[in-house]
Amino acid sequence: MDKLTLIRPDDWHLHVRNGEILRSVIAHTAKQFSRAIIMPNLKPPISIVKQALIYRQEIIQALPVESTFSPLMTLYLTGSTTKDEVKKSAESEHIHAFKLYPAGATTNSDSGVNNIKSIYPVLEAMEQVDIPLLIHGEVTDNNCDIFDREKVFVESSLSNIVKNFPNLRIVVEHLTTKEAVDFVISSSNKVAATITPQHLLFNRNAILAGGIRPHLYCLPILKREYHRQSLIKAATSGNPKFFLGTDSAPHLTGAKENSCGCAGCYSAYAALELYAEAFEQENALDKLEGFASFFGADFYQLPRNTQTITLKKQPWTVPDSYQIGNETITPLKAGEDLHWKFI
Ligand code: DOR
Ligand code: ZN
Repeated sequence: MDKLTLIRPDDWHLHVRNGEILRSVIAHTAKQFSRAIIMPNLKPPISIVKQALIYRQEIIQALPVESTFSPLMTLYLTGSTTKDEVKKSAESEHIHAFKLYPAGATTNSDSGVNNIKSIYPVLEAMEQVDIPLLIHGEVTDNNCDIFDREKVFVESSLSNIVKNFPNLRIVVEHLTTKEAVDFVISSSNKVAATITPQHLLFNRNAILAGGIRPHLYCLPILKREYHRQSLIKAATSGNPKFFLGTDSAPHLTGAKENSCGCAGCYSAYAALELYAEAFEQENALDKLEGFASFFGADFYQLPRNTQTITLKKQPWTVPDSYQIGNETITPLKAGEDLHWKFI
């Protein structure tokens, strides 16, 4: 097989930032995807409908002129999110979900939620209007080993949320562990998950292969090989609970190659090629279309796309960096070869 044609996919978890970074990265996503769920962790966070609509306009203005790409906006849950805002979000055709960051879990999460139980009334309102909750599933306890933070979150918080709000649609974002995969499989069809390309392609050894590799540092952090195997199995299983969400998270090269480097991998430049690489290794390219183009749309209750895109089997070398004004962003797999090319 040297060509792969798919219904045009969507990215169900994406960071595009704002300003100059946004203007530099958005064309990469708009080229490959029809729609993307836009993460709200800006500074300050996008926490009300009004801000999200302004941010949406900024994204649309940054698109190449001929692009028909559609940003799907989300709101950042804080301790002060009101039920009234939930109602407003449900009335807006542009708001598609709320994002829960446990405070301190990751980039720009300081305004996140300290005590998840305290926002239960807001979750109840979300359940009533049927707007999905997207979860960064890690505990923030510094005493908890960083490699256990997702597993402990599943046991201590996620299972309670699911139990208390059985009709709330939940996306457990960027799964990294077997425990989280098993939890999603054993939950009702209201619970789904996204999986990133880096968690399918790498295990935690890659972060420290011959030296420290800051461009493979993301959160939740890469895990052991058996967790990666479990993610591969889930993504290629054809189970509609698992769908594509790149978590492409651009940071300037200097912010990553730093004594305290930022978390996030930039994958939007070749998102589908990276997933194709992972699916091909598993001999499961026939499962890519459901994962990339159908299951997310179905879960979000949006129409499936109808146009197609094509990948060609054609080796090419990933650039060392992409220019952002006078600075650069270093992509995932910089300088390495990929075997598929979006045409
Ligand atoms: O690695 C990550 N980067 N994980 C996140 O949860 C946030 C993201 C970012 O915004 O940079
Ligand atoms: Zn993210």
